[in-house]
Amino acid sequence: MTKPISGFSKLTKEEKIDWITANYTQIKEQSKKILQTYWNENESIQQLHDEFIENTLTNLYVPQGIAPNFLINDTLYAIPMAIEESSVIAAASKAAKFWLKRGGFKAEILGTEKVGQVHFIFKGDATKLNSFFTYLKPILFAESASLTTSMEKRGGGISDIVLRDKTLELDHYFQLHATFQTKDAMGANFINSCLEQFATTLKKEAANFDGFSAQERDVEVVMSILSNYVPNCKVRAMVSCAIEDLKLTTELTPQHTAEKIIQAIKIAQVEPYRAVTHNKGIMNGIDAVVLATGNDFRAIEAGVHAYACRNGQYSSLTNAEIDNGIFKFWIELPLALGTVGGLTNLHPLVKLNLEILHRPSAEELMQIVAVAGLAQNFAAVSSLVTTGIQKGHMKMHLLNILNQLGANENEKATLVEYFKSNPVTHHGVELQLKNLR
Ligand code: MEV
Repeated sequence: MTKPISGFSKLTKEEKIDWITANYTQIKEQSKKILQTYWNENESIQQLHDEFIENTLTNLYVPQGIAPNFLINDTLYAIPMAIEESSVIAAASKAAKFWLKRGGFKAEILGTEKVGQVHFIFKGDATKLNSFFTYLKPILFAESASLTTSMEKRGGGISDIVLRDKTLELDHYFQLHATFQTKDAMGANFINSCLEQFATTLKKEAANFDGFSAQERDVEVVMSILSNYVPNCKVRAMVSCAIEDLKLTTELTPQHTAEKIIQAIKIAQVEPYRAVTHNKGIMNGIDAVVLATGNDFRAIEAGVHAYACRNGQYSSLTNAEIDNGIFKFWIELPLALGTVGGLTNLHPLVKLNLEILHRPSAEELMQIVAVAGLAQNFAAVSSLVTTGIQKGHMKMHLLNILNQLGANENEKATLVEYFKSNPVTHHGVELQLKNLR
């Protein structure tokens, strides 16, 4: 059995590769080769990636494509998307083209407030804590001034700090609940630095506060951390068209198509099993742009799904209605994104992607990302209620199947042609490849 290792992080990259391939893989030399194949031949780019994280061995490629023709608030965008799922970019492009001819997407920012909390335990009289907080609040601002100066110059900073009594949920549990504006930065470092300063100030001032008993002076800070739940950092994106323009298929009238889309959304609003898949499709678009622009997709995922549960049951992020003969389809969701700081300044491909997106502000990026999610949901739901999802999905998946079966370029070309007019199934592809050979 493989033994645990100590001091792994201190080994060189080569030593780490030697160790992992010798201890955890069957054919050491072959495994080493696979890891090396994914190294970037440009050494400085590879070093950059090596230094993003600890114990880097190689890079995992995710394909990056472009979904063109997105008209958003009258500006035309080609959206870079990084994703491994075959049909996502095709679906986004199809939706973009459809809405391009119908006025495009409209998007607006509903708020940009970020949140962070100092969680602490106070064993004492809550009224005294309230008086202490009135005294404390200006000191919290004053003692974090050196951290906030440059953010304030950019128009951001700490918006407010409130004391929250959470003792009904958990004995002796209180919070400093702070709100922030972080302009074009996602703001995690700024917020966490401010919060850690608040915690230090809180402990120090409590320890010396005359109004407290000895026990009350001993405030215990449990932790200080930003929240990825940002319901007031929110964006809305929408499309609309006259019902008669909602021509998606010859099998259904536009009116019937609109009604089925609305019905599908109502189902996702009341049925969590469907809502999760419905929103997963939205996240196909969102994550792909978030990743391509160097943002933290786990933070986005966590915040979006919490928002989808805000009324006590997991529900759809999108809505649709017919209003006076107009079909309206929209999404509202929280997105804390940055276009400065983090990977956005470091990763050459991320920088290029932001250039392709006309160097957006964080607010513009929120709008673009929300639109990508809406487009993805429109493509998925409109396929689901008309032709079904598999036809398009399997067509896109065809090349993966052919690659899996080891088809050569000629075979691929012939079979791609054949499957233009035949349904794609794994078995069907296997059979046709066999016939061809
Ligand atoms: C697949 O990745 C996403 C869909 O399942 C989304 C949906 O069902 O709405 C097609």
